[in-house]
Amino acid sequence: MIRFLTAGESHGDKLIGILEGIPSNLKINKGYIDYELSRRQKGYGRSDRMNIESDKVQIVSGLDEKVTTGAPISLVIDNLAKGTNNDDYLQPRPGHADLAGLIKYNQLNAKNILERASARETAMRTAIGAICKIFLSEFGIKIFSHVISISDIESNIDYYKSWSEIDFSLADNSTLRMIDSDAEKIAKERIDFGYEEGFTLGGKVEIIIKNVPIGIGSHIQWDRRLDGKIAQSMMSIPGVKAVEIGLGETIKNYHGNLSNDEIFYSEDKGYYRKTNLAGGIEGGISNGEDIVVRITMKPIPTQQKPLKTVNIITKEETKAFTQRSDVCAVASLSIVAEAMAAISISEAFMEKFSGDSMEEVKRNFINYQNYTDKR
Ligand SMILES: Cc1cc2nc3c(=O)[nH]c(=O)nc-3n(C[C@H](O)[C@H](O)[C@H](O)COP(=O)(O)O)c2cc1C
Repeated sequence: MIRFLTAGESHGDKLIGILEGIPSNLKINKGYIDYELSRRQKGYGRSDRMNIESDKVQIVSGLDEKVTTGAPISLVIDNLAKGTNNDDYLQPRPGHADLAGLIKYNQLNAKNILERASARETAMRTAIGAICKIFLSEFGIKIFSHVISISDIESNIDYYKSWSEIDFSLADNSTLRMIDSDAEKIAKERIDFGYEEGFTLGGKVEIIIKNVPIGIGSHIQWDRRLDGKIAQSMMSIPGVKAVEIGLGETIKNYHGNLSNDEIFYSEDKGYYRKTNLAGGIEGGISNGEDIVVRITMKPIPTQQKPLKTVNIITKEETKAFTQRSDVCAVASLSIVAEAMAAISISEAFMEKFSGDSMEEVKRNFINYQNYTDKR
């Protein structure tokens, strides 16, 4: 069973992570984890904290030299922007955990809530996801992501006609992770305007998971459905307000005869589809097609022109406190979402092919492949 925990505050000394369930004998390349952390830090529209931080992971346990032992892997990332957030925050920000959190945890200061609720924690999720990506790559599974829209500015990609021709890795060449360079240009102008005028922006990201074998996840119990697991992991990312799989919410516009992927068979391909409207999951089970997930992020809630709130001591109307904050973090969200997808897919993958060593998991995987090849 794959599971993880994180600890640490946004401006505390360090972020801590523990990842359990990765089999023994998997070689871990620390440089790759640092590379993933640097991908999360990039992105047009982020705050100048990204110039302060230079995230690097330290792996404290679970490896013998560079190879997993099967023991929990513990990770540390230093915060460089530590200790800069010591004030009393008595003016909770709308759109944050501040007010509900300080009442729930009986705090007199929103600082103790926001320091943990901050998306800084997603740096550790990115590191943990990077290890899961290394694990999945042993089975040919690859994860891509790109930004579909910033606010109402959308990439113009005809997904369902040219899906197989799109090179999703091109997103890595764009500071906004947009494949459509015309849309990227307009989106950057809008973000610049956001900096000038003091408003923030949300957007939509697409995650594509390739080469997932047929049969991950299950229809037999609610909590084993792969779409359910993915939805929970995506929704757990701060700021994410909607998750879609395949056609997602636009499916309501189609009649049933046009909203399902017809099934074909040929000697050389076996079963195959000509479309992927289901986004690679049917009945909670992967069907062998690309898994396609879209997530929508709300505009960043911290405002440079603060919204109305109430002072929690005097109960008088005031303005929410403000601090250094991103104008748009959708590009970074896309890397965090890749990480969360890697964790969820690894979890479901291990549920199916479980083993304590990589050799055992690979045996189970190959046996199953031999079986599915004959179906
Ligand atoms: C990568 C990333 C960066 C973020 N940066 C900020 C930020 O700088 N300022 C801010 O107010 N919110 C930021 N957020 C969003 C908040 O963390 C989030 O809206 C808040 O914790 C409340 O959670 P909720 O929106 O899910 O209700 C960021 C989210 C992500 C994923």
